[in-house]
Amino acid sequence: MQITTSTKNNLNSDCIVLFAKSGGDLLPYAKVIDKTCGSAISKAIKNSRFQGGEEEVFIINAPVSNEISQVVVVGMGDINQANIDSWRLAGIASGKALDTTGVVSSSIIFEKTKLAEQDIAESFAEGIHLAMYRFDRFLTNQKKHQQSAFEKLILIVEDEKSPALKTVIKNVNALMEGVNITRDLVNLPANFANPDLMVKTAKDLKKDKISVQILGEKELKKLGMGMLLAVGQGSAQESRLIVMKYNGNGKAPYKAVVGKGVMFDTGGYDIKPAAGMLHMKADMGGAGAVMGMMKALAKRKSKVNVIGVCGCVVNMISENAFLPGDVLTSYKGLTVEVGNTDAEGRLVLGDALAYIVDKEKPAEVIDIATLTGACMVALGGSYAGMFTEHTNIAKALKKSGEVTGENLWRLPVNKKYGSMLKSKIADIGNMGSSPYGGSSTAAAFLQKFVGDTPWAHLDIAGVAMIDKIGGNIPVTGAGGFGVRLLVNYLENNPK
Ligand code: BES
Ligand code: MG
Ligand code: ZN
Repeated sequence: MQITTSTKNNLNSDCIVLFAKSGGDLLPYAKVIDKTCGSAISKAIKNSRFQGGEEEVFIINAPVSNEISQVVVVGMGDINQANIDSWRLAGIASGKALDTTGVVSSSIIFEKTKLAEQDIAESFAEGIHLAMYRFDRFLTNQKKHQQSAFEKLILIVEDEKSPALKTVIKNVNALMEGVNITRDLVNLPANFANPDLMVKTAKDLKKDKISVQILGEKELKKLGMGMLLAVGQGSAQESRLIVMKYNGNGKAPYKAVVGKGVMFDTGGYDIKPAAGMLHMKADMGGAGAVMGMMKALAKRKSKVNVIGVCGCVVNMISENAFLPGDVLTSYKGLTVEVGNTDAEGRLVLGDALAYIVDKEKPAEVIDIATLTGACMVALGGSYAGMFTEHTNIAKALKKSGEVTGENLWRLPVNKKYGSMLKSKIADIGNMGSSPYGGSSTAAAFLQKFVGDTPWAHLDIAGVAMIDKIGGNIPVTGAGGFGVRLLVNYLENNPK
């Protein structure tokens, strides 16, 4: 699906989308269209229940004039209160309505509001893309009329030639290509999404001028990544560390983004109960976000230098699996006693973080991971947890969260939490000594492997899968959390 821009004298598509405010009154540009069809649209609204509230839609599945064969009216509620989140939600509502009608293309009459046109266009276009995504590859009985039909959205704006707006739309199309890669990877079950698929996805990025290095078990063993390897050693699938580099800013220093790619988390011998295990195909949401982020940065030709790292393993039970009580030697040299095989994400990330910091000396490192159930308990589905001692990074990340609707809530991490990771026989344990503050002790474990490099950790356990506990956007399954956030952050903070 592609979005383009055009001007009013170009209304040649199957359908037209208009906006209304609370009370059901059409907004100014929509009113102009309504006049051209003898007020057919406003009359139809008057005869309906439509009140123009946020996310409310009104569909006319019949011609209202010679030019306009179908109409979708989208409510904006109190238009003076509408912010970019409202426009994203309006985009999603419009997309769902267009999908319902089955049209192939549509024009959409954009309105002037207090907000900058580019900002609302960006957010709205994101919403349309989010709504049009489908994960239906395993539905073999879909009839033609049930399949996705929509191909092209034409944004009707005052000044089509406005280069800024054209660029914004082009960039959203590129961004959402990345988001859709992430959504596919996270939605795919573990019998499809295994470390090999991550390797294949990374190799596909080579055509976007991203350099890709794959480290297999032999190399990882040589490098001494005893923690990452331990988590994957119970699986028949080979563990992989994937390192991708995108250069869009010459000789400037790189920032690194590291994703947890536990392709499935059974919990290991500390096995998860059935209900807790069901969604664990999504335990690679962090690595999935890193893949989509790399794709988006390259497609947008972002002026940033970024290293993306994915630690990809499967946490299984077998005669080869690691055991509770095992002592592992990490890449950094610290020995770690396994208090619980289900606290595996920190083991994978600890080695990946230590390696990339040591090897590439990035200016900054961010990790993104479905790390703890505790974070999901604390924040639910509307915020991801953000852990950093660097207030500047926290502020900038929070701002990107607000702009993209992928919101972050800062939770504490520091040495005090780190001191709760005690072991009697190894340097540290992978479990906190208390059952409380589980997401902060997990973050503090990671902190021990990062050293002095400015670092932030994002715990996305509660937000990687939207339909599990609800989230900021009304879509099902994976919403690609992290891609829009990280691209915004990296582009606005290139140094
Ligand atoms: N993958 C889970 C975290 C998780 C839970 C993600 C729910 C998404 C939804 C992680 O590996 C895990 O099992 N963490 C344990 C840690 C505990 C054993 C210290 C947890 O959160 O219970
Ligand atoms: Mg686990
Ligand atoms: Zn896990």
